[in-house]
Amino acid sequence: MKYKTIRGTRDILPAEASGWQKIEAAARDLFKTYGYGEIRTPIMEETGLFVKSVGEDTDIVKKEMFSFQDRGEREITLRPEGTAPIVRAYIENNLASVEPFQKLYYIGPMFRAERPQAGRLRQFTQIGVEAIGSNSPALDAEVIMVMAKLLDSFGVKNYTMKLNNLGCLEDKKKLSGTLKELFTGAEISAVLCDDCKRRAGTNPLRVLDCKVESCKAIVRKHFKEIKFLCDDCKKHFDDVLKFLDLTKTKYVVDPYIVRGLDYYTRTVFEASCESLGAQNAIGAGGRYDNLISDMGGPQTGACGFAIGVDRVLLAAGEGSGQAGSGRIDVFVAPLGEEAYAKAFLVLADLRGSGIACDIDYENRSLKSQMRSADKLKARFVLIIGDDEVKKGEAALRDMQTKEQVFIGFDNLAAAIKGKIG
Ligand code: HAM
Repeated sequence: MKYKTIRGTRDILPAEASGWQKIEAAARDLFKTYGYGEIRTPIMEETGLFVKSVGEDTDIVKKEMFSFQDRGEREITLRPEGTAPIVRAYIENNLASVEPFQKLYYIGPMFRAERPQAGRLRQFTQIGVEAIGSNSPALDAEVIMVMAKLLDSFGVKNYTMKLNNLGCLEDKKKLSGTLKELFTGAEISAVLCDDCKRRAGTNPLRVLDCKVESCKAIVRKHFKEIKFLCDDCKKHFDDVLKFLDLTKTKYVVDPYIVRGLDYYTRTVFEASCESLGAQNAIGAGGRYDNLISDMGGPQTGACGFAIGVDRVLLAAGEGSGQAGSGRIDVFVAPLGEEAYAKAFLVLADLRGSGIACDIDYENRSLKSQMRSADKLKARFVLIIGDDEVKKGEAALRDMQTKEQVFIGFDNLAAAIKGKIG
């Protein structure tokens, strides 16, 4: 019996992992310049946390959570997203008493039982931020800018940042009521897809971003006339756009972006990359001004986003598992048994000096060892034969120029460091 990865999960092998490391390092650097500190929350939470925050009628809660009972019969869920756990942590650790305004970032796996396809996994990684404790439109603009900068720094091109204004809770309720009436009417209901027929009664806002053509046509025909935003929410959104214009951040306003999680109010946004096909959302977020108080915390505004790293790598063309740059600087190639002991010592010294190196463990011919060095993309091969041991020096071969120089054992680490810079 050979075991395999669970459907919708995958291994990230070393050649691909270097791409992940680059992305994570770039994200950490960027977050630092914007004043974000890292938060790490458990991957398991009480199921109720997501039901209450993401919303009972959402696809995530209805169909996609990995939920189970633990041995103590507690209801547990593998986190499908990061916002709810971070809000829980903000409240549970009383972070507001230290500093009510908190800028937090996270990198980690999320779990959703969706039907796997290209760019859609059951375990996927998000990089996200949550800025909790401010109602300022400058914060929405900054959060959107951070997401755009992040995508730019990852080398993602041709994405569109779509923005929309959902309004406050009252506005959303107003819109929801109007849409419910509209979409449950016999004439319109008859042409909606089966999902939207159900949503029309339970979560009519979701009909707005349905991808089925007949639903899209209905929405485009009737939605334009609906006025639901209050003056405060209109002004807030105008100010967000003003800050984005000021910093020349690119966006388009798309009135059909509603997002699949219930906690959003006011600004919502989504970055999509058309070249990715069906799963083209590479990152998304928005404001959630009622979530903190709904979960038992203070009444305070918040805004955040999460990007999907798996999709970003596909969009940036690095998801193909190509070998990254060389893993080692020096491949140590001993020739003969006596030389092996010396080479083993040299290897330890070089590593001690911070030089990445490896050795042949099998006592093979120089030709085979050169082949291994090539595979590892080593910059240098350090050849140590019995002759070299007697002379007290080793031959350092540059794998690009094929030049070879002899260096005394005492001077090896310094000389190699000088060459690799
Ligand atoms: P979301 O739109 O559900 O938002 O997910 C954000 C991103 O995660 C998506 O745009 C996508 O790139 C990625 N993603 C989602 N599901 C999958 C999947 N099955 N496979 C691969 N990638 C996936 C949230 O999760 C919110 N918590 C974002 C947020 C933070 N809002 C405010 N703060």
